[in-house]
Amino acid sequence: MSSVQTVSTNPYEGQKPGTSGLRKKVKVFLQENYTENFIQSILDANKESIEGSTLVVGGDGRYLVKEVVSKIIKISAGNGVAKLLVGQNGILSTPAVSHIIRKYKTLGGIVLTASHNPGGINNDFGIKFNCSNGGPAPDNTTNEIYKISAAIKQYKIVPDIACDIDKVGVYKFKVEDRDFEVEVIDSVKDYVDYMKEIFDFPKIKTLLQGSEQRKPFRVLIDSMNGVTGPYVKRIFIDELGAFDDNVRRVTPLEDFGGAHPDPNLTYAADLVTAVKNGGYDLGAAFDGDGDRNMIIGRDAFFVTPSDSLAVLAHNLEHVPYFQRTGVHGFARSMPTAAAVDRVAEALGKEMFQVPTGWKYFGNLMDAGRLSLCGEESFGTGSDHVREKDGLWAALAWLSVIAGVGKSVEDILIEHWKKFGRNYFTRYDYEECASESCADMMRELERRMTAPGFVGSTFVSGEKSYVVALADDFSYMDPVDRSVAMKQGLRIVFEDGSRIVFRLSGTGSSGATVRLYIDSYEATSVLGSAQEMLAPLIDVALRISDLNKYTGRDKPTVIT
Ligand code: G1P
Ligand code: ZN
Repeated sequence: MSSVQTVSTNPYEGQKPGTSGLRKKVKVFLQENYTENFIQSILDANKESIEGSTLVVGGDGRYLVKEVVSKIIKISAGNGVAKLLVGQNGILSTPAVSHIIRKYKTLGGIVLTASHNPGGINNDFGIKFNCSNGGPAPDNTTNEIYKISAAIKQYKIVPDIACDIDKVGVYKFKVEDRDFEVEVIDSVKDYVDYMKEIFDFPKIKTLLQGSEQRKPFRVLIDSMNGVTGPYVKRIFIDELGAFDDNVRRVTPLEDFGGAHPDPNLTYAADLVTAVKNGGYDLGAAFDGDGDRNMIIGRDAFFVTPSDSLAVLAHNLEHVPYFQRTGVHGFARSMPTAAAVDRVAEALGKEMFQVPTGWKYFGNLMDAGRLSLCGEESFGTGSDHVREKDGLWAALAWLSVIAGVGKSVEDILIEHWKKFGRNYFTRYDYEECASESCADMMRELERRMTAPGFVGSTFVSGEKSYVVALADDFSYMDPVDRSVAMKQGLRIVFEDGSRIVFRLSGTGSSGATVRLYIDSYEATSVLGSAQEMLAPLIDVALRISDLNKYTGRDKPTVIT
């Protein structure tokens, strides 16, 4: 029998979860009791239901995951949790956690990830709490966790509980007069079983292997040394009969092999090269924790996430899951280009525009009003779980391709010809000085809200834009009527073009400014995005004085 120890501690400042959990440098988490405080705060925020509960625990395999899993086991035991479902080796992708919470109806889960941020001792770590619906905790819960962390005085721990999380099995303990159990589960099985229910695997297998009518469709799936490696191997190699040259970087590494595990054209540049040189028909990459995706076609034809969402929305009948559930509404985050809005209109579906962050989709899904949603930041997903889901997106694309029998590029071109095209780009200015970025946002907001701004004209080259609306986006959740304010400065012009400015909520140091540009063309659909958007970018830089405030003459990343 083990006993619970109560350890005195002092609060740390700044344990405030951002867009998606608490993310800091590993060295911050290594401070004495820093991690313990935050875990205890999560459990305290759930104190009414924690006794006798079950929680899911897993992470993306980055540096510190295993140590923190072991702390969570000990602290959970100290707080009366009855059972933990822990991924083998501490590995669970973010969408897999969401699925396991839902499948086994647990109180929630703790996900150990800093998502697409680099890993290793000098980089980032993160802790995120997901609720019983499988989704990231909403603002009221994260605010509560933060409040508790700011006043914490003690945590409860059972120091002598240890179990081998590298081996699948059930470990039983007696903590004082209670039973406590840790079940180490196969990290991939539940998720893979679910994907087999959602998609028609035999049909995708025929696509990949080819048939008498059609040559094999060659894919290159890149896990970027993140958590999706084992899932990709099981799904693509074991289930879909792909070969070793159809997958890459499928071993999760603590530092992602030095890669920045963010699937975009900058950080997944070597996938782009490999797809071009290898003559692949489709390339897909996922981020560290497996919720983001990037899709490219032959010759690395790039599908923007906003277009990916619109194309999937238009073709959901090729996914068996939706044949069963029907298609309810669609949603996108505010900065995401409005391509999917046109599909919603054509199909007569409800369409929602929410603030940045997946947590805002959950209520709509739970209310049965949302089937498919996405963010421009390489997030796509559906109501099959309550997180975005990278592998799901790749399988959805393969289902559409198998269904319509066309290439990625042809699918896009046809889509644009039917609906018109939203040209989109995002400029990121990473790790700038926090104060001057805050000044920029303040000054911009002052200008935008001054009398006469709406109705004023901005000219760049041959183009001129008249401001139709300028605000700091706020959102009222139609289900629980909670309000999220200050979600991004938005300038909308009379032709529907938009410029959006936001400060990132996921960075671990300094400030990151994101500038989003979205412009709709009904007929000129085959241009280059950077050329088509050049005048609006020029206007955005002038309105904001971005270069002056950030001290940068160009962004760190363009997507
Ligand atoms: C970023 C993305 C946002 C996404 C989040 C978590 O947040 O912009 O769409 O939900 O990562 O993956 P940001 O850093 O902009 O706050
Ligand atoms: Zn992620």
